[in-house]
Amino acid sequence: MTNIAVLVSGRGSNLQAIIDSIENGYLMARIGIVISDVVDAYALTRAKKHGIEAVFLDPTGFASRELYEKEVLKFLKAQKIDLLLLAGYMRIVGKTLLSAYKNRILNIHPALLPAFPGLHAQKQAFDHGVKVAGCTVHFVDEALDGGPIILQKCVEVRGDGTADTLADRILEQEHKIYPEAVKLFVENRLCIEGRKVRIIS
Ligand code: GRF
Repeated sequence: MTNIAVLVSGRGSNLQAIIDSIENGYLMARIGIVISDVVDAYALTRAKKHGIEAVFLDPTGFASRELYEKEVLKFLKAQKIDLLLLAGYMRIVGKTLLSAYKNRILNIHPALLPAFPGLHAQKQAFDHGVKVAGCTVHFVDEALDGGPIILQKCVEVRGDGTADTLADRILEQEHKIYPEAVKLFVENRLCIEGRKVRIIS
């Protein structure tokens, strides 16, 4: 069974969606560990509530990204982790993790990439005046929010909405497509062909 680690920094609603999908039998996988770079991330509480090992690793205790990631890697190796999920993890993933987990790191981003990478993507999209927003699950590579796209979901922008209500409506879709993408991964149905991800039916 695929053994997953989830890296988080905040409230962990996407982590929760993955936990729920495992517990209700949609996803045949387990979460071996949740690691946070933020001491009071609510995601850690969520993990513990479900009996999942939850670890805070303080990045300020390490002189470089490389040293921090080497420490993260120790935990991943100890748990024999196969797949790494970023779920609201607010750090750039560096070479150490990228090479140890090549094509085995996924991220959820709250915009239709390649539009609006980076922070506050929902507000960027809203302020830009887009009519259609959405979210993306993609493989993580060295480009910020730039790896091959696995799944996307559109959300229509409503005239009477705000950036916050749009973000809420996007989040609902995130909670659907992230478990869906993870399911495709664990079932070995994702084939990366250059920039494209072919889904094997
Ligand atoms: C989500 O909007 C996700 O797309 C982005 O960060 C946010 C994390 O939310 N990468 P949560 O911690 O999963 O609730």
